[in-house]
Amino acid sequence: MSCESIRFWSGPAAVLVNRESFTQKVAIAVATATVVSVRTPPGHHVENALRPVALITGTSSGIGLAVAVKAARAGYRTVATMRDTAKAGDLLEAAAEAGVRVDVRRLDVVDRDSVAAAVAGVVADHGGLDVVVNNAGQGHVGTVEVDSVEDFRRTMEVNFFGVLHVTKEAMPHLRANRGRLVTVTSVGGVVGQPFNEAYCAAKFAVEGMMESLAPVAATQGVRVVVVEPGAVGSNFLENVSVGSELENGSGEGWRDAAGAAPMPYARALRSYLERSTVGLARAQTPDEVADHVLRVLSSDAPPFRVQTSDAARRLVGLKLVDTDGAAVTGVTAQWLRW
Ligand SMILES: NC(=O)c1ccc[n+]([C@@H]2O[C@H](COP(=O)([O-])OP(=O)(O)OC[C@H]3O[C@@H](n4cnc5c(N)ncnc54)[C@H](OP(=O)(O)O)[C@@H]3O)[C@@H](O)[C@H]2O)c1
Repeated sequence: MSCESIRFWSGPAAVLVNRESFTQKVAIAVATATVVSVRTPPGHHVENALRPVALITGTSSGIGLAVAVKAARAGYRTVATMRDTAKAGDLLEAAAEAGVRVDVRRLDVVDRDSVAAAVAGVVADHGGLDVVVNNAGQGHVGTVEVDSVEDFRRTMEVNFFGVLHVTKEAMPHLRANRGRLVTVTSVGGVVGQPFNEAYCAAKFAVEGMMESLAPVAATQGVRVVVVEPGAVGSNFLENVSVGSELENGSGEGWRDAAGAAPMPYARALRSYLERSTVGLARAQTPDEVADHVLRVLSSDAPPFRVQTSDAARRLVGLKLVDTDGAAVTGVTAQWLRW
């Protein structure tokens, strides 16, 4: 299959279906998914305006890829976006293995025009938008003294402003369909982690934005959820950027960062990186995290905050008494019913 968009039929039925509740649509999706797997001949795509539409960012690898395949299997018309559609190979292979189709489109979360164009294209071609999964993100290792202000800005651009761009474009459509906005943040969105000042600042910012938005969006029937993984065995570590002053041109990135550290933090950084590497052995798989995201989509009343493992829940629990966010969102929702 090519990386080009696959157009689905959209028309009056798409308008009609918008009156269904989110969970009714999910039930239809699950039923339809069965039909798709049993009856659809290879190479023939199902044009079914009854299935809810899910847009996922950052699907070239890892969690986004796994969510896209599982969403398609669950019956969603799945729009799998990525900043470079030439990287769609792994996703398309996984989709083919699972016997599902995904609609691959370009979306670079830092480029507002590309976000606007992608969302408008999806609404035009699919008739609406029911689910957005803000997944795209990138780690950054450094610390204030070796990170440039530009390092901070770049990390905020992808991890915070990227989420803002997508959310802002998607909200009118999610509101129209009483849909769901799910954002993959991190335990690092709750607990500040050493040598992650820029990344955690961005993920904290996302959590603050989403926690504030949740009660407001709920007045319009839109559920807002943050999903907080701990370590996940994806391409994340390969993609982590390092502070400007930790770059030594070896091409080893964070793996060589401690050796390159021209500063008094080298020992602490080495310990942190060694611990992180060991921790990877206990990392969750992207599939496991994706299962949590899919549960959020199928649940009648998902909590605001979802940790994807016991270890993640324990760490977040050190910081929060209200680990699933029910107490905070319960109180703030009341402020809107004054
Ligand atoms: N892995 C972990 O340990 C871990 C833990 C907690 C939270 N998370 C969060 O989980 C999410 C997914 O990460 P992952 O673990 O699946 O890592 P990953 O395999 O590196 O996937 C990250 C995805 O984000 C995409 N991306 C990066 N910048 C983008 C941009 N400007 N526009 C659109 N897409 C962009 C990447 O695309 P390219 O292929 O083009 O780079 C890739 O598809 C991230 O938000 C991350 O912060 C990860």
